[in-house]
Amino acid sequence: MSEGFGTGFVAGLEDVVAAETRLSGVDGEAGELIIGGFPVEELAGRASFEETVYLLWHDVLPDAGQLAHFREELAGRRELSRATMDLLRDVVAEEVPVMDALRMAAGTVSPGTDEEEALDSVASLPTIVAAYSRMLEGEEPVDPDPELGHAGNYLYMLTGEVPGAEFRRALETYLNAVSDHGMNASSFVARVIVSTRSDFVSAVVGAIGALKGPLHGGAPGPALDVVFEIGDMSRAEAYLREKLGRGERLMGFGHRIYRVRDPRADVLAAAAERLYTTDGDREFYELALGVEQTALRLLEEHRPGRNLQTNVEFYTALLLHGLGLPTQLFTPTFAAGRVAGWTAHCFEQRALDRLIRPQSVYVGSKDRRWAAR
Ligand code: COA
Repeated sequence: MSEGFGTGFVAGLEDVVAAETRLSGVDGEAGELIIGGFPVEELAGRASFEETVYLLWHDVLPDAGQLAHFREELAGRRELSRATMDLLRDVVAEEVPVMDALRMAAGTVSPGTDEEEALDSVASLPTIVAAYSRMLEGEEPVDPDPELGHAGNYLYMLTGEVPGAEFRRALETYLNAVSDHGMNASSFVARVIVSTRSDFVSAVVGAIGALKGPLHGGAPGPALDVVFEIGDMSRAEAYLREKLGRGERLMGFGHRIYRVRDPRADVLAAAAERLYTTDGDREFYELALGVEQTALRLLEEHRPGRNLQTNVEFYTALLLHGLGLPTQLFTPTFAAGRVAGWTAHCFEQRALDRLIRPQSVYVGSKDRRWAAR
């Protein structure tokens, strides 16, 4: 078969099926997300993150003994190597953004078997993010506590304080809700890398690069900034109209697959709401809801019938803000959840062992001749 002169190009591979997976399924018309067989509403608020990772990797929930062993296995791999710490200390001097530091540091995970690399990647991403963000603030990193669960330990390493049950649950719900999502761009990248028989660490590094972009995982920070900048409901409509008028996209709205509200938005909204307890907090939460409603109304005017709805990033922003995380940690925290799916896709792709190598259509000129220069 020749390449380059045919037709059939689909920009953005929209509607192109690139894999069979048992990890998660997205029904964009019905607004349904299934993760490892469970509707997201069933799983996210109940499972521990360790259970979700195990489920994705093994297609079954662990029994009590398996869970204890798996938790121990992950907890024992949280600490960063000297090479990783040295790298973070080098880049902090240049105030490298957290996602870039995470991309570099994730690449220092030691080469091993697929399973070792998967465990090390899942275990160490939160430590990298927490250590680096503390360094950026001029504070010493906090050592991981193996007695704490994955989510609780992440918050502990960020703040130096053991988080309350409500906070642990909220973060766990978030990490579970974003653990996998069909053939999203970063998981696709991970699969392409593993399909060349490359290693899982390289796949995770590539996936982090893909997640960083504002059309994928980079949206929640800007989504929250919009609420801050609006500040008061009386300014919401004019502010959002102006943004759309300039041709900008409203972060936290729209989706390639969903034509209705992203089911993760409701799961996260319920978890986020419980974090906004004081009067001041409630006021901010109400403002965010008002901004959401105005944005939805204006998006319907802007692209009538396109049904641009709230996506996961809007409520990610509210949930992570409610947990006290600064905006620059939103996308890195997304990575700490999605690494469950990335590694699970790596296992699936490894088992399939088929090189992903699509075709392109050549649209350049064909008859140039080399002239003496
Ligand atoms: N704000 C304003 N306009 C938007 C929009 C948004 N959030 N999302 C889509 N549109 C517009 C597009 O510009 C497009 O208009 P055009 O045909 O004039 O170019 C039209 O709606 C249809 O877009 P669509 O094909 O649905 O978008 P996509 O599949 O290429 O992109 C996203 C999906 C998620 C990348 C897109 O909705 C977006 O950029 N959203 C904001 C970023 C975000 O929240 N990302 C996180 C995703 S979970």
